[in-house]
Amino acid sequence: MEIEGLHKYELRPLPYSMDALEPYISKDIVDVHYNGHHKGYVNTANTLMDRLNGIIKGDVTSYDLHGVLRAITFNINGAKLHEAYWNNMAPSGKGGGTPGGKLADLINKQYGSFDRFKKLFTEAANSNPGTGWALLVYDRENSNLQILTIENHFMNHIAEMPTILILDEFEHAYYLQYKNKRADYVANWWNLVNWDDAEKRLEKEL
Ligand SMILES: [Fe+2]
Repeated sequence: MEIEGLHKYELRPLPYSMDALEPYISKDIVDVHYNGHHKGYVNTANTLMDRLNGIIKGDVTSYDLHGVLRAITFNINGAKLHEAYWNNMAPSGKGGGTPGGKLADLINKQYGSFDRFKKLFTEAANSNPGTGWALLVYDRENSNLQILTIENHFMNHIAEMPTILILDEFEHAYYLQYKNKRADYVANWWNLVNWDDAEKRLEKEL
């Protein structure tokens, strides 16, 4: 049976140099995070897609489909969440501050002020039990924003709500520099937020 191959995922280049996020996120962390973890998710996603292709074609006859699909979800989300995370930050000195445009309007409408939004997002990030992500997403159906905390790479994720703002909270994202002081990493990450990228993400959905 001829079946077309499944899509291959790519590790896209970082939008800045390895040391561009210093002093808030060290060069060593970016190196290990991008060349180790992110690349690992992309490569494993592709290996698993090959395996799934084998299952579809009938070449692989002994398998745990639930396990394969769960691992695919973990690794594809790992690849996609990391790409969004890198692009959602800007080099030190060029990021941070406050959003403008339609994102600022929505934040002010929903949260009253940027400071209240920042406080709530930070609280949500700090409440995440262990490994996961904090996200701001856009809910097209209600035309509003939602703060989410994703556990692991997929638990608590609501489908079809595109990411506007994204923070990686896996230990590999901060431990080399911040050790157990995750809240300090979260506080410093605000200095790197690329609000232009966040605004572009939102405007695509409006
Ligand atoms: Fe990560």
